[in-house]
Amino acid sequence: MNNEQAEIIKATATDANLRSYEEARSGFDWTEVEKHFSWHATGKVNMAYEAIDRHAEAGLRDKVALYYSDATRDEAVTYGKMKTSSNKFGNVLRRLGVKKGDRVFIFMPRTPELYAALLGTIKIGAIVGPLFEAFMEQAVRDRLEDSQAVAIVTTPELLPRVPVKDLPHLKHVILVGDNIQAGPGQVDFKGEMAQASDELAIEWVDREDGLILHYTSGSTGKPKGVFHVHNAMIQHYYTGKIVLDLKPGDVYWCTADPGWVTGTSYGVFAPWLNGATNVVRGGRFKPQDWYSTIEKNKVTVWYSAPTSFRMLMSAGDETVEQFDLSSLRHVLSVGEPLNPEVVRWGLKVYNQRIHDTWWMTETGGQLICNYPSMDIRPGSMGKPIPGTEAAILDDNGNVLPPNRMGNLAIKTPWPSMMRKIWNNPAKYEEYFRLTGWYVSGDSAYMDEDGYFWFQGRVDDVINTSGERVGPFEVESKLVEHPAVAEAGVIGKPDPLRGEIIKAFISLRVGFEPSDELKADIAKFVKEGLAAHAAPREIEFKDKLPKTRSGKIMRRVLKAWELGLPTGDLSTIED
Ligand code: WT7
Repeated sequence: MNNEQAEIIKATATDANLRSYEEARSGFDWTEVEKHFSWHATGKVNMAYEAIDRHAEAGLRDKVALYYSDATRDEAVTYGKMKTSSNKFGNVLRRLGVKKGDRVFIFMPRTPELYAALLGTIKIGAIVGPLFEAFMEQAVRDRLEDSQAVAIVTTPELLPRVPVKDLPHLKHVILVGDNIQAGPGQVDFKGEMAQASDELAIEWVDREDGLILHYTSGSTGKPKGVFHVHNAMIQHYYTGKIVLDLKPGDVYWCTADPGWVTGTSYGVFAPWLNGATNVVRGGRFKPQDWYSTIEKNKVTVWYSAPTSFRMLMSAGDETVEQFDLSSLRHVLSVGEPLNPEVVRWGLKVYNQRIHDTWWMTETGGQLICNYPSMDIRPGSMGKPIPGTEAAILDDNGNVLPPNRMGNLAIKTPWPSMMRKIWNNPAKYEEYFRLTGWYVSGDSAYMDEDGYFWFQGRVDDVINTSGERVGPFEVESKLVEHPAVAEAGVIGKPDPLRGEIIKAFISLRVGFEPSDELKADIAKFVKEGLAAHAAPREIEFKDKLPKTRSGKIMRRVLKAWELGLPTGDLSTIED
């Protein structure tokens, strides 16, 4: 916590095309931003209309909204086309009897159909629940059960992971694929879309009506359904403008999947609310594919994650040199700490300052950012955006002075703040336990100049490759394996992935430690929960440290792993 490393990367003239940070903050008023929207006069709103239809109707009908490519497809979808395809999907849902407020889940790989389904769901006022395609049966079941979803849009390949029989409220399974033979309760997406009308009477909703449900991990219990409302568009639009710096001519690429909040707030809403052209690349990560995506589409603004930048860095400078990346003019990062080394490398090979941004599923939109016109201090997340205030608090809610580490908190409210945790009001209240503040669960400090520096999570949540994994969810899966008696899961620091998942396991009688067993246990989690939730490292122990109430002490496991003192053991079992 010292400012010796107060290395500064100055903003250049081209970065300074926005007002200065201080100027933008002074006298800032969110209600001024509202005037941008068509609903400012009527009060009734729909996110999908503001993002797509309004532009299609205002001269952008033939502008490309989406450049999509994967190994087999390469398509450009205009604003006009996106309007009609999402209208069609809205009609498909209406015909099935889906209504405003119903939950509709989308569980499929990134394709133009996914975006049409997501926007169509929103157009009829239903609440969309995007699910990452890597989820396995247990993860899908937990989320559909908790939300009581009435419909799911998926593919024949992913269908086996949807336990339809056990989900009585799930009435419709909409299958996206070729030659679908729809069985009972199933719907052929393509067939229905071909027949559906292009015209849709949009459901005009209130600003506080439900928009999207993103499930995310905590340190205890099942994943939490973070609930966002249409009002979030104010922040998505505004941060798209001032943080992503989106302008009408921009070709913007957010590399995140819509199964995570970055892939919706900044992969769908922010770019389209700003009328930009959005790039989506399907398939797996490969450095060459990523660079050719930038080159081919002439990407100007690029939003990615530290883990991806580190993988690109390890692919070598020679790989960068094979491509023409000169279209890039603004690069940003989110999800985990952005290493100063990566910032320096970005400057060298892309000739770009990588701008770190901090926010969370719960915050719905960016909050602490390196504003384009601001000098960057590598390693710092930046400063709170105009219209928001951040502080470091002690556990009693007192604001701490600069350079003291504590709870990173945001003054409530802001437009895109979550409005509830689905089915769990107590969990929701926990975030607001210090009056007037949202408590993030991150620890940080602020330097004398107001830059915020991330220090770690206060709880046990693991951040692996920018994805949040709850240790409890992994432990629960592990103990379902026939050989596992007890399991404790921690994040272990890793140079490429930020953290990897490490499991400490005690075995049931009759099972012996072996490498085969380790592999089998990891596979069990991979196939039952999700690949990114599987432990990359397993260590067998005769016994795990537990409190007298039987809670596994992850703090002790972490201390063992890092070779640190175990601290206060007064609550340990024996
Ligand atoms: C957690 C939120 C919404 C963005 C994607 C992740 C960590 C996020 C940063 C950053 C250091 C970061 C925090 C936060 N995090 N951005 N710039 N520097 N840490 O969303 O899955 O809800 O995770 O990611 O720990 O609490 P998420």
